[in-house]
Amino acid sequence: MNNFLIECLDVSKEYYQGNKTIKVLENIKFNLQRGSSIGILGPSGSGKTTLLHILAGIDVPTSGEVLFKGQQFSNCDTNAKAYLRNQNIGFVYQFHHLLPEFNALENVALPILISGQDKKKAYSKATDLLARVDLEERFFHRPSQLSGGERQRVAIARCLANSPSCLIMDEPTGDLDAENAESITNLIFDISKEQKTTLIIATHDTKLAENLESNLNLGFT
Ligand SMILES: Nc1ncnc2c1ncn2[C@@H]1O[C@H](COP(=O)(O)OP(=O)(O)OP(=O)(O)O)[C@@H](O)[C@H]1O
Ligand SMILES: [Mg+2]
Repeated sequence: MNNFLIECLDVSKEYYQGNKTIKVLENIKFNLQRGSSIGILGPSGSGKTTLLHILAGIDVPTSGEVLFKGQQFSNCDTNAKAYLRNQNIGFVYQFHHLLPEFNALENVALPILISGQDKKKAYSKATDLLARVDLEERFFHRPSQLSGGERQRVAIARCLANSPSCLIMDEPTGDLDAENAESITNLIFDISKEQKTTLIIATHDTKLAENLESNLNLGFT
């Protein structure tokens, strides 16, 4: 038995459009220990988002598999996968995906409620998390009433909701100015250090990539 949190074993992904096959990922392999970090780099269209979705169980590989704590993850059934994801993985989408009808506090509290915690605990934790990303003044704003950077910070607070062992982030500083990008980068590394969280981050941000322990460049595989 090894000590890996995530094992990506020869993952390939093809998309089919009409009679055309689009090869996006070919035999991607790497392992991550708890608390380690990796940057997923590469030009637009090289498959970063596709790989993150497969690692998080949002999408399935065409071949190969992903193991989470030694357990088959990528090909297990939908309910088991949803449970594993809720408990272990915090995901930040490239385009936020906050729920538009809910305010910031509700967006952050939702994964905690889904995990079975009572309402009081869920809202108390959501309050703390939003304070952590400096959004005490924006609890009751809906996503459309927040700036791009503020939405990104809500998404980061939400991904921390169930204290996941693994954070998977798709260009978390993509929409931000230099100052906000730096503060989000510092926040991500502070949290990862405190909670020994494994980080998998797709990014074009060289400053962020430099701070990760290893980099996987999809453009040159
Ligand atoms: N559902 C799909 N059907 C067909 N092709 C797809 C599908 N989803 C993605 N692709 C193609 O797969 C390739 C990889 O897409 P992906 O979103 O993973 O790239 P990316 O590296 O994240 O790019 P960016 O830096 O622009 O976010 C692209 O060429 C895209 O057009
Ligand atoms: Mg992408």
